[in-house]
Amino acid sequence: MELPPSIFVSHTAIKSMAQLLGTKPVLSTVLPVFIRGKYHPTSISVDSSSPYSPPKPLQIFTPSEHGIYPVILFFHGFYLYNYFYTDLLRHISSHGFIIVAPQLFNIMPPSGPDEVESAAKVADWLPSGLPSVLPGNVEANLVKLALVGHSRGGKTAFTLALGLANTNQNFSVLVGIDPVAGNSFCQINPKILTYIPCSFNISIPVTVIGTGLGPESKGCMPMPPCAPKGVNHEEFFNECKPPCAHFVATNYGHMDVLDDDPSGLVGRFSDCMCVNGKGPRDPMRRCVGGIIVAFLNNYFEGEKVDFMTIANEPYVSPVKLDQVKFNIEGCD
Ligand SMILES: *[C@@H]1O[C@H](CO)[C@@H](O)[C@H](O)[C@H]1NC(C)=O
Ligand SMILES: *[C@@H]1O[C@H](CO)[C@@H](O)[C@H](O)[C@H]1NC(C)=O
Repeated sequence: MELPPSIFVSHTAIKSMAQLLGTKPVLSTVLPVFIRGKYHPTSISVDSSSPYSPPKPLQIFTPSEHGIYPVILFFHGFYLYNYFYTDLLRHISSHGFIIVAPQLFNIMPPSGPDEVESAAKVADWLPSGLPSVLPGNVEANLVKLALVGHSRGGKTAFTLALGLANTNQNFSVLVGIDPVAGNSFCQINPKILTYIPCSFNISIPVTVIGTGLGPESKGCMPMPPCAPKGVNHEEFFNECKPPCAHFVATNYGHMDVLDDDPSGLVGRFSDCMCVNGKGPRDPMRRCVGGIIVAFLNNYFEGEKVDFMTIANEPYVSPVKLDQVKFNIEGCD
């Protein structure tokens, strides 16, 4: 990935000036990707019994303003509901994206292969089904189609990008949010990690966002970590081919991209299963949402400045980012 230095002049200048004066750098403006965008998202629920019969129930977020927008297919995590991500998805949609978030299980989580198969069916439904459920003034541009997933949904997104699912759809970019491929003992099927660097046969640009606390176990309870070493973001990044970027939110945990108070029993469960960050979740959601918006704008619109700024000056993010890396050394 090219990193032209010239466009960082302003931030870099502020930073060197601050160093000269011995103060912390203070940026005069917040990067716009980290705050709500100019569009007003509306949400649309489409259940499987609707006349447009999507293969799975969908939660859709779309700008309400007239326009043609890129599309994001978003996969929720293991045993989580798509509506637990409302705040994050609204943030992204407010920057001009249509988001389609299927609910991939009803009562019991499906097997790995079934989940991937359902995800592929939703991807294939998009060209015929999505236009019929969008407001009349909104058009989906499926030539710009992103795969994004959290946790096991991140792994599902990688599986589709690897071409291991039965879909005709082409994808343009891929984001894994704290992706997890299994537990400490085994990968869930279909197994995609090979433990060989650069081995993913994926030709589209990839961003992997990890959490620092995901690999930690919850205190005295006999709970396994939510994103164990060996099957988490680090290994997903290691197996990526360039262009691939890696960001780690050091002080946050696996569930911290969810809404503040996910409802119901499953919501309670999601709150206590993993080690959570001590800080409020809002900055973490804005950080993850902002990285995704900047990454997509980089590849879809050729707007490089925001993404490169986050990469080169990670302190502009609302939460602390570490291990910011581009590409793996040794990949061709
Ligand atoms: C995906 O790309 C291939 C090759 O460019 C093309 O033939 C095919 O029609 C595309 N599929 C869709 C669903 O657009
Ligand atoms: C990688 O994927 C491409 C296109 O999907 C395929 O043609 C190629 O054979 C694959 N390479 C390997 C090493 O599997």
